[in-house]
Amino acid sequence: MERIPESEAIAEPVDARRFSEVMGSNRFRQADYRRLAHRAVGLTTPPKGKVLDIGTGPGFVAIEVAKLLKGTGSQVVGMDLSQAILALAAENATKAGLNGTLSWREGDAKAMPFKDGEFDLIVSNDSLHHWDDPLPVFDEIARVLKDGGRCIIHDSKRLQHWWPWLFVKMISLTIPRDFRVHWWNSIKSSYTADELQAILERSRLTGWRIEEDFMDLMVVREA
Ligand SMILES: C[S@@+](CC[C@H](N)C(=O)[O-])C[C@H]1O[C@@H](n2cnc3c(N)ncnc32)[C@H](O)[C@@H]1O
Repeated sequence: MERIPESEAIAEPVDARRFSEVMGSNRFRQADYRRLAHRAVGLTTPPKGKVLDIGTGPGFVAIEVAKLLKGTGSQVVGMDLSQAILALAAENATKAGLNGTLSWREGDAKAMPFKDGEFDLIVSNDSLHHWDDPLPVFDEIARVLKDGGRCIIHDSKRLQHWWPWLFVKMISLTIPRDFRVHWWNSIKSSYTADELQAILERSRLTGWRIEEDFMDLMVVREA
């Protein structure tokens, strides 16, 4: 199946709010956010320093990372193309009592508004499939990561067979009807592991590996 791209940003305030409400009230998604935050923070021992969440959306992963790093003097920055969704990230952080540790920055992952080597850890969840051209994003990740910095980029993968689609359609029954098509379109716009590998091989990022499971992909750089 060919990739069918989605629009980059969740720019409309009404779409941003709906996304935040649906993801914020889905306990399976919240568990996924927590799991990714634990995995990301576990990559740096001791956990400390400055963390970037690319395509942070309503900020749920950044918030989970900030909870884990509270009291360590670390800073977590959530960056997104969409000002509308960053406003909701700030609301969600306030509700979680975490605004001090977190900050929000409007910016494009293809040309990030950060200095070279600014971050110890970079995390990203479900944003990669929105990037029409991931190559400059991986180059930017290589630039803004410190020497020896870690990163973990998680996303869905494009499903190539009918049988995982059967599974997707079944799970779809547990999410609101208006969100089902949105999810299917995300899968259709995702990259395959082979496509991702070809892009990473041309990028400036080093030390990466791809972890693949039934429905997901992760780019992990541990050192
Ligand atoms: C499906 S949402 C995922 C949000 C959040 N990470 C989560 O897991 O709930 C994808 C987000 O990536 C953002 N995004 C897409 N392309 C981007 C880019 N080039 N730079 C920064 N953010 C981007 C979108 O605006 C959107 O908020």
